[in-house]
Amino acid sequence: MVEIVSAHTDLRRSGVRYTGLCPFHEERSPSFSVHAEEKLYHCFGCGVGGDIFDFVTEIENIDFPAAVETLADRYGVEVTREQEDPQAEERRKARLRLSELLDRAATFYSTFLQDAPEAAKAREYLASRGLGEEVLKQFGVGYAPSAWDTLIMRGQQAGFKVSELAATGLAQKGRTGGMYDRFRERITFPIRDARGRAVGFGARAMRSEQKPKYLNSAENELFHKSEILYGIDQARPAMAKAGRAIVVEGYTDVLALHQAGLAETVGIMGTAITEQQIAQLSATVGTVILALDADAAGQKAMLRAQQVAAGRSLTIRVVAMPAGEDPAEIATAEGGGERFLELVAGAVDLPEFQIGLILDAVDSSSPQDRDRGLGEAAPVLVAIPPGATREELTRRVAEGLDIDPAVVVARLAQTVPAAAAPPTGASGAGAGRAPNRADAGGAPAGGPSGIGPPPGEAGPPPAGSSSLLSRRERRERSLLAMCIARPQEGREYIARLEPEHLTSPLTVRAVAWLKDHLENPTEGLDQADRELHSLIAAMVVRADPKQVGEGSIRRNFMELELASLEDEIAVAASGDDPGRRAELNRRRSKLVEELRRAEAPGPGQT
Ligand code: UTP
Ligand code: MN
Repeated sequence: MVEIVSAHTDLRRSGVRYTGLCPFHEERSPSFSVHAEEKLYHCFGCGVGGDIFDFVTEIENIDFPAAVETLADRYGVEVTREQEDPQAEERRKARLRLSELLDRAATFYSTFLQDAPEAAKAREYLASRGLGEEVLKQFGVGYAPSAWDTLIMRGQQAGFKVSELAATGLAQKGRTGGMYDRFRERITFPIRDARGRAVGFGARAMRSEQKPKYLNSAENELFHKSEILYGIDQARPAMAKAGRAIVVEGYTDVLALHQAGLAETVGIMGTAITEQQIAQLSATVGTVILALDADAAGQKAMLRAQQVAAGRSLTIRVVAMPAGEDPAEIATAEGGGERFLELVAGAVDLPEFQIGLILDAVDSSSPQDRDRGLGEAAPVLVAIPPGATREELTRRVAEGLDIDPAVVVARLAQTVPAAAAPPTGASGAGAGRAPNRADAGGAPAGGPSGIGPPPGEAGPPPAGSSSLLSRRERRERSLLAMCIARPQEGREYIARLEPEHLTSPLTVRAVAWLKDHLENPTEGLDQADRELHSLIAAMVVRADPKQVGEGSIRRNFMELELASLEDEIAVAASGDDPGRRAELNRRRSKLVEELRRAEAPGPGQT
């Protein structure tokens, strides 16, 4: 537990507890606590908490099964599956073998790059591009020898079938029917999925006559280019922490930015960004920063990103890349990391970027062309919600086109928004535009960025997140933690807690569980009930007998009684039973008096 958490924040030890800055929210003084023996964590600041699976699930933004597999991989624990149908098991095993083959190929290429005389030129080339050994190793960059059959020979020696070599795309059939290595005399970039499993390669030519410049794995069972974000396995923790992703075009851009300390960078490998890529990004971050080449293709890709993202609550910002430079060049230059950060800081929202493109393209000496510009700008402007941004951009358009602002505003009144997001976010861009692959065809189009459906679709807050809890619910949770900390005293109060005292069904369930398990709350708890598990875990981490003062359990219990009594009084107030109202009010006065006495420090109380 401590080892895993330490990878994300520095922990200091005090007894069985370790404390540090919370990796889930920004803070200056540590409120994050790990209980080494119970193997649980809790943040007193933002309320997250749970066990190792919760931690990995949240920090890496993956689901529970993925967290189990990741941890099992890392610590060499074999995960056994119950009730897997034999066919599915076979498919999974076959896949696993292919993945292992790709992994071994990656290792072979990487060793070859580091050691082989044949790879000397590649080593020089990479060094001349400013990519250091450390980042090359981190990303497993390698070199494929020029011989026709290196992989085929070695793969077979290692017990893999030719058909498996073909299935991974490492080997392919030649014209005469014989098999040969797909990647030869190229620098290899292993491509991994979000869980770090190798799925294919990108491979860069060494000589200018070699075509294409980059040869990727062909589409196959494991390799689906449109779903891949290059570097996602390395970038995801940093993405989750930063709340943003930087998206670049090339393999070398990703490496250079990671080397420069921007570990939240992923690559889209020269393609137009796809819906699957946007979906993966929006599962982890709220903001995507596009740093694509300044050329026409790059600009088109940015506008397309807008259409693809329509309907998601994802803010897309665009870095104005200096013409002729790509992120790799900038980041590897002296002081490049800082320069790139400045560019990122200057990123603008997509609509502003679009307006800039439109205005740049207008020939200001031609009234017709200025009208054309207005025609293109108007749908972009009306798609922006009314407010300062829209006004500012409207002003800029009027100025840039040298048209009376009143005329621009009048034009907006007659304009339909560009590719407005459908309210349900069901199918991407509206207005008959295919959300993906549709050619933007010169005329920029797209809806506003970051104006998807309200974040209401985000679902309930995680069980441990106390920042959104009512005062009363926080008190309920404190009481549970105190009872766990001092079970001898707590037992009585847990037994007396009724559903009426509690405001959330989850705390009701927690109390029901604690009635029989107060001494050892996590033991025997259903692992599949993540919500309950995570709440109980958070309570256990918080439970510190030293922090429970004499009488606090009783006082907190009475506070809850008072709150539930007030609920009853509120109900009775609208009824027509004055006797009951009087009775409830009497009980209330008595309780308030008891509480007052309980709060006054008596003899011997600390
Ligand atoms: P670039 O041509 O901009 O290459 O293509 P780059 O990343 O700057 O490469 P270096 O720095 O010259 O080595 C951007 C990305 O487009 C994809 C690759 O993923 C590449 O990184 N691409 C490019 C291909 O898939 N095939 C190609 O033939 C060219
Ligand atoms: Mn490039």
